Amino acid sequence: MASSIWDDLKSRQEAIASALSESLQRVCVDTPAPLVEAMEYCLLAPGKRLRPLLTMLACEAVGGEPAQSLPAGAAIEMIHTYSLIHDDLPAMDDDDLRRGLPTCHRKYGEALAILVGDALLAAAFELISSRYNAATAAVMTLEMARAAGPAGMVGGQVLDLIGDGRITGEVPATRGHLENLHNRKTGAMFRAALRNGIHAATNGVATPARQEQLASVDQYAAGFGLAFQITDDLLDIESSAEKTGKRVGKDAHRGKRTYPALLGVAESRRAAEQQVDLAIQAATRFGSAGRPLVELAHYLLTRDR
Ligand code: IPE
Ligand code: IPE
Ligand code: MG
Ligand code: MG
Ligand code: MG
Repeated sequence: MASSIWDDLKSRQEAIASALSESLQRVCVDTPAPLVEAMEYCLLAPGKRLRPLLTMLACEAVGGEPAQSLPAGAAIEMIHTYSLIHDDLPAMDDDDLRRGLPTCHRKYGEALAILVGDALLAAAFELISSRYNAATAAVMTLEMARAAGPAGMVGGQVLDLIGDGRITGEVPATRGHLENLHNRKTGAMFRAALRNGIHAATNGVATPARQEQLASVDQYAAGFGLAFQITDDLLDIESSAEKTGKRVGKDAHRGKRTYPALLGVAESRRAAEQQVDLAIQAATRFGSAGRPLVELAHYLLTRDR
């Protein structure tokens, strides 16, 4: 059998898994036991770890050591996990299954689920501040705060929930709006993951080469992020809870604004292919060091989870 991309990435995934456990221990000194247990339950559940992987691959693409990327990768995974915990709450998407397990609020109740999210968000910034030199930490903090904040992921979640009527407001039913929503809710975090990989490799030092490298990962992130969310929306129609580890078939029922709802399945798939092409063009600028980024973008088109 041909080896899958995950066989090639196995050792990197193992390093990321260890970094997540170790990072959690580091930030949970003298912490109430129920909070530690619930944070472990959510963060160490079997997610795909795409964001820390991208941090590592971007770091490697510019000649950095993979280990330099690990605290930044763990931090972005903490923020991502917090966003999933809150996304699943009854007031938002009201889901009961995540990463193949009962959602945090189903297992531990809503109060603790909200606080686990709050704790993971703060812990991510503690990790960055304590594991990098001041210049690197400052630039990484800015990337993460912008990506996760009002103009990024949280803003995108607001547009998403206006779209399905849970938040009052007006949003247009256009492709341009949907692209903007997806770029904020999903793309911004991928962009920060990749940019922090470059910052990890270059120790926060601004060089002319770094500006070009950042521009290349920005283009990669734009294509990868949009293709990723389009395929997430397609999986909600075409995949199963067994494969994805989350309930499927819920977006249409909730009236979510998605690519397949607006354009249909075939046109959405074409849009994802176009975005993957854009990402690949950007990754090839890194030469052979960008090869894993090319493969990861290809994987989006065949993923079933
Ligand atoms: C799901 O992200 C949420 C979206 C941004 C669509 P992932 O599909 O990366 O979730 P995990 O981390 O593998 O669970
Ligand atoms: C969530 O998007 C994006 C986040 C910022 C968490 P979705 O609501 O489509 O993610 P899933 O399908 O629940 O994983
Ligand atoms: Mg959602
Ligand atoms: Mg959701
Ligand atoms: Mg979804």
